[in-house]
Amino acid sequence: MKKTIRDFDLNDKKVIIRVDFNVPIKDGIITDDNRIRESLETINYAIENNAKVILLSHLGRVKTVEDKEKNTLEPIAFRLSELLDKEVMFVDETRSEILTDAVNEMRAGDVILVENTRFEDLDGNKESGNDSDLGKYWASLGDIFINDAFGTAHRAHASNVGIASILPSGIGFLIEKELKNLDIALNNPDHPYAVILGGAKVSDKIGVIENLVNKADYIIIGGGMAYTFLKASGLPIGASLLDSENISFCERILKEYPDKIILPIDNVVSTCIDTPTDVREIFINDIKDNEIGLDIGKASVKVFKDILKDCKLVVWNGPVGMFEEEVYSGGTKSLLDYLSKLDAKTIICGGDTASAAINLGYKDKFTHISTGGGASLELLEGKELPGIKVIGEK
Ligand code: 3PG
Repeated sequence: MKKTIRDFDLNDKKVIIRVDFNVPIKDGIITDDNRIRESLETINYAIENNAKVILLSHLGRVKTVEDKEKNTLEPIAFRLSELLDKEVMFVDETRSEILTDAVNEMRAGDVILVENTRFEDLDGNKESGNDSDLGKYWASLGDIFINDAFGTAHRAHASNVGIASILPSGIGFLIEKELKNLDIALNNPDHPYAVILGGAKVSDKIGVIENLVNKADYIIIGGGMAYTFLKASGLPIGASLLDSENISFCERILKEYPDKIILPIDNVVSTCIDTPTDVREIFINDIKDNEIGLDIGKASVKVFKDILKDCKLVVWNGPVGMFEEEVYSGGTKSLLDYLSKLDAKTIICGGDTASAAINLGYKDKFTHISTGGGASLELLEGKELPGIKVIGEK
């Protein structure tokens, strides 16, 4: 069992909390603050226990000097301050005397948010390359390290693995909750158990299929990746997305698990991917050579619901259509709505599926909505995440 924040005496200690504040920001406005909200429990616990709270996070990917301006954490400091209802001091530096002095002047209960850890990537990829001097510097700012950045736990960076290798470390409440819920999918499933997989590429989901196909009763496939499976079962797919390198994988899985793999039987197609053109809803066999499948159709939704209705556990990763476009959002919306009312454990993973669920108002209607995209995928693949592996055991 990993140590958690509860296992430490935080009183008057400098506690570095690695959070994942990698949230969408448009023109300086945060368009989805879910990840910030999900971090509040750990931050508030540290404040209530008289810690001096030093927050580290990345935002986006920083490759050029121009990337810095749009990836500053300053707007997040404002939002966090509103959500915590207390002052958050923003230090617009990642490594400097100013930052060291600011930390040394903290009083119990104070909160500092340090500028985007990936600004350090501009000078030789130091954050993403887990540079040891950078890890040592950040560790020197604190007494205890708490990793609560689940979304980044599949990365071995200086701000998680680097610091945790030096300081006494534990996980926060968010990571604890993520591990508990994803463990249900991996080691403790109720049956019947269905996994819904969508998104564009088969290659992104091979590891998950391999790891879950023997644990789940059904693997329901939608999204762009369904077309490679449909092609592998000998059906026409028109001009739909094809992951030709993975047709043989799909053929093998379909042959080995013919009753477990559930594919769409109809779809919503268009002749243009960028603008909905000549949109029609048709059975798979009726697709024309120039048509692209962009959503599952109503008949597939019905087939999927018939399977889901008796399930006691449903894990979903990846939208079943190009849901950002209203005309192709029907399949994803119908399934979200159906699952939100199902008497089963329901776990939603992956950035796109999670934001669709939250934006459509279903935030509290599922057993768990993961804050991790790549991290939840790697966990479902059965991999150990470096940001968690490094944390001390009880
Ligand atoms: C995410 O959004 O998935 C995490 O914050 C990790 O971001 P990254 O893929 O840029 O490392």
